[in-house]
Amino acid sequence: MNAPAAQPAPRTREFGFCKADHEAIAAIAHAEVGILLPEGKAQLVYGRLAPRVRACGLTSVGDYIALIGRDPAERARALDALTTNHTSFFREPHHFEDFAQRLWPTLAARLTAGDPVRLWSSACSSGEEPYSWLMAALGEDRANAAHLLRRDFRMLATDISPSVLATARAGSYPRDALANVPATLRSVWTQGRGDMLTVDPLLRDAIAFKSLNLLGDWPLRRRFDAILCRNVMIYFDEPTKERLLSRLADHLEVGGMLYIGHSERLIGPVARRFELVGRTAYLKVAA
Ligand SMILES: C[S@@+](CC[C@H](N)C(=O)[O-])C[C@H]1O[C@@H](n2cnc3c(N)ncnc32)[C@H](O)[C@@H]1O
Repeated sequence: MNAPAAQPAPRTREFGFCKADHEAIAAIAHAEVGILLPEGKAQLVYGRLAPRVRACGLTSVGDYIALIGRDPAERARALDALTTNHTSFFREPHHFEDFAQRLWPTLAARLTAGDPVRLWSSACSSGEEPYSWLMAALGEDRANAAHLLRRDFRMLATDISPSVLATARAGSYPRDALANVPATLRSVWTQGRGDMLTVDPLLRDAIAFKSLNLLGDWPLRRRFDAILCRNVMIYFDEPTKERLLSRLADHLEVGGMLYIGHSERLIGPVARRFELVGRTAYLKVAA
């Protein structure tokens, strides 16, 4: 998992890496996944790609750029390495509290009545976000949760990065990583002894973890009742944010909620389609 990294001063590098190499990598990352890698991120880019250059038996980042130009699988590994996947359980928990109070009682009643409920964690990283969301909504009553999850319930959790999706699907985390999960929820929804805890299969099976590029096509048939899109737009430029927000609004039911990261804002005309009802918590209103 890639955590945000401090920018150490350039040292003697194992592999050749010049300004033009950084620009070429930044152009690929921007075009394919939307992330901005300005000049100040050169050391971060080098640090993330150097292991791939080594693994491919090359001696310069320039040769690696040539390789990813002709090898789509290695290109995908390069983009995976360049994404920042920092996340945690119950990060920005006010969103889960807002959802549990504002929407979940109505959605649970809808499930019981046989109606569909659809939720989307749209940049889910290694899974901590969707698992937290589901634990917070379902609470401590496992039998009632099992009843609701057997109904027409789907949580979609997507990310561009295959390595974090593999962790998310496995649902096993170091015990320390679950320190922020309320103790009662942790005891109901995780199992294991020793250093690792595994999320209950009931939750894992309720979440469909899929690869999806927020800049690409979305093979999504139905609108969602709530969408989390948190701490990913910060890596995008303004036009990309605006386009993404407008598409998210199109994929949300009226009366549904959009939750974004603490340093993100609704920008552009899309803001008129929402009412701010909590901390970075937006209710979609009728046109
Ligand atoms: C910093 S993490 C945030 C994870 C989680 N939403 C949270 O707030 O804790 C950003 C995630 O966005 C993903 N990402 C970046 N660009 C993306 C894109 N174009 N499409 C889908 N996911 C993307 C990264 O792989 C990474 O896992």
